[in-house]
Amino acid sequence: MADLGKKVAVLASGNGSNFQKIAEDLARDRSHTLALLICDRPGAPCLDRAAALGVPTQVVTYEKGKRAEAEALITKLLEEAGTDLVVLAGFMRLLGPDFVRRWAGKIINIHPTLLPRHPGAHGIADSYHSGDRRLGVTVHWVDEGLDSGPIIAQESFERTPGLTLEQAEGKIHALEHELYPRVVRELLER
Ligand code: GRF
Repeated sequence: MADLGKKVAVLASGNGSNFQKIAEDLARDRSHTLALLICDRPGAPCLDRAAALGVPTQVVTYEKGKRAEAEALITKLLEEAGTDLVVLAGFMRLLGPDFVRRWAGKIINIHPTLLPRHPGAHGIADSYHSGDRRLGVTVHWVDEGLDSGPIIAQESFERTPGLTLEQAEGKIHALEHELYPRVVRELLER
């Protein structure tokens, strides 16, 4: 059957639960393809998830001081895969200016807080300990800043009395798993 849909590539560093939800959603009707997972950490669990789902993978490690070289290779791999949309899902690196410019308007990220509140690597703990009344998640375009690009979509819930950090984490991840596949699909079908 001819492959008429668009191609998505995911960049991830670790667990890969968001990658898996997006892959499963796209596999439901095969209207679009999750063409490639790129991971910067050999042995990360996201690579096992990709193998189980039959999604091709590439590992690109960043040598110290060689970000531009690593990202030139990532761009080459994304181009070879015919990527229409780059999806960051727990990719724990700040991408360089050349890479961000090359993929501008075609690269999105998910962050586990209601941006612009609590950017950075400890978003869940920061928002939990802040005492904010609402907690939530954000999908946004990627620019050169840290979790700073224009917001595409957010989902949130109200903090209930006695909510533990673990419970907050569970609710935040559940929101991510519902929101991210939906936004990816919407962007592919624009
Ligand atoms: C998610 O909480 C996401 O918001 C953040 O990193 C985490 C990745 O989780 N950027 P997973 O690897 O998709 O399970």
